[in-house]
Amino acid sequence: MEYKMLFSPMRIGSCEIKNRIVMSPMLMGFGQLDGKPTKRMLDYYEERARGGTGLIITEITRVNDRHGAAAFAQLAASHDYHIEGLREFAERIHRHGAKLFVQLHHPGRQNVGLAVGTVPLCIAATRVCKSFPKLLFKVAPKLGKTLCEKNLTKASVAPSACEPSYFAGGRVRALRHGEIKQLVRQFADAAVRCKAAGVDGVELHGTHGYLIQQFLSPHTNTRTDEYGGNFENRLRFLREIVEEIRKRCDDYPIIVRLTVDEFYDKIGREGVGYGLDLGVEYAKAIEKMGVDAIDVSSASYDTFNFWLEPTSFETGWRKYLAAAVKKEVKIPVLAANLIRSPEQAEAQLEEGIQDFVSLGRPHTADPH
Ligand SMILES: Cc1cc2nc3c(=O)[nH]c(=O)nc-3n(C[C@H](O)[C@H](O)[C@H](O)COP(=O)(O)O)c2cc1C
Repeated sequence: MEYKMLFSPMRIGSCEIKNRIVMSPMLMGFGQLDGKPTKRMLDYYEERARGGTGLIITEITRVNDRHGAAAFAQLAASHDYHIEGLREFAERIHRHGAKLFVQLHHPGRQNVGLAVGTVPLCIAATRVCKSFPKLLFKVAPKLGKTLCEKNLTKASVAPSACEPSYFAGGRVRALRHGEIKQLVRQFADAAVRCKAAGVDGVELHGTHGYLIQQFLSPHTNTRTDEYGGNFENRLRFLREIVEEIRKRCDDYPIIVRLTVDEFYDKIGREGVGYGLDLGVEYAKAIEKMGVDAIDVSSASYDTFNFWLEPTSFETGWRKYLAAAVKKEVKIPVLAANLIRSPEQAEAQLEEGIQDFVSLGRPHTADPH
C-alpha cells in the first residue's frame, strides 16, 4: 500500500503540515510546578517529531493558575516567563520539519478542588525552597485524598453551580460575569505568548467536558445572562475567545477541539446534555467564526469511556462523528478515533471521514 493521502501535505490556516499524522494532546505530567517544560518533556515530544509526525499538539496547557490548573506538572502559557520555554519547545519540534500547536485549556468543574488556589502558593513555595515539589508529590496523594473526601477543598468553577462531575467530585460554583471576561482575556494572552514563542498555532480545548464544553452544554450551563439560555449565548464564551485571539494575533492558526456528542444516552441519561445534531450545529457555527480546523472528539468525564475508550472498543467505532462534521464544513477535520494501523488511517482519509488522523496512545507506545 502506498499511503498516498497519509503522506500528503495539507494546510491548517496559514500553516502547512507535511503529512496527515497528528499526535493528539496527552497530559504526561513531565512539566515543572511553575508550568515551564522540563528537559524530559522536551525530549519526549521531540522524539515524536523525529519519528515523522507532521503535527504535534501539546497536552492541556493552562491559561489561569488560580482555578485553571488541572495538574501540578502540566505545561502553562499563563505568564510571560513561559515564552522562553515554549520557544525552545517549538525549535526542537521544527528541527524535524514538524509543526507545534499548544492546547489551551481550563478544566472548569472537572477539577479536583485541591488544585484550586494552591498552584500559585506552590510556585511561591518552590522559589523559597527548591525541594518543595519533592515534598508536595510525597504528601499530596494522601493529604489531598483526605481533604477531597472531607470536602475541605475549594470549589471548582463552572458556568453554573451545577452538579460535580463524575470522577472529579467536590463542590462547584458559578463563574462571576467579570471572571468570564477575565478568562476570555487569559485565553487570548496565552495565544499571544504562543505566537511570540514561534509556536505554529493553538488548539482551544472544547471537549472532554472541560470549561469551554461546559458553556456549550445545557447540562452544565443554566446561566440566565448573555452566556446561557440559548444556542448563541452558550457559544458566546468560545466566540469571544476566538474574536479576542483574532484581534490580537491576526490570522494565527486556531483549531477548536470539540465534543460533538456528550453521549449521556450511553449512560442511561437520555435528554441530558447535547447529542450529535446539536454538536454538528456547533461545528458549523465554529467554522463561521473563522476557526481554521475542527478536531472532532466526544463525551466528558461523566461519560469517560466514550472519549478515552478502552482498547477493547472496535477500531474506528466513532468515526461517524468526524464524518458527520466533515459533511457540513469546508475547513480541515482532525479526529482521534481508535486508529491502530496505517491501512486504517489511509482508508479513513480516502473515505473522506477526516483530513488528519490523530493518534494518542499509539504515539505513547511508539514514537516512530
Ligand atoms: C494519558 C492520556 C492523556 C490525555 N490527555 C489529553 C489532553 O491533555 N488533552 C486532550 O484533548 N486529550 C487528551 N487525551 C485524549 C487523547 O488526545 C485522545 O483523544 C485519546 O487518547 C483517543 O485517541 P487514541 O485512541 O489514539 O489514544 C489523553 C489521552 C491519554 C491516553
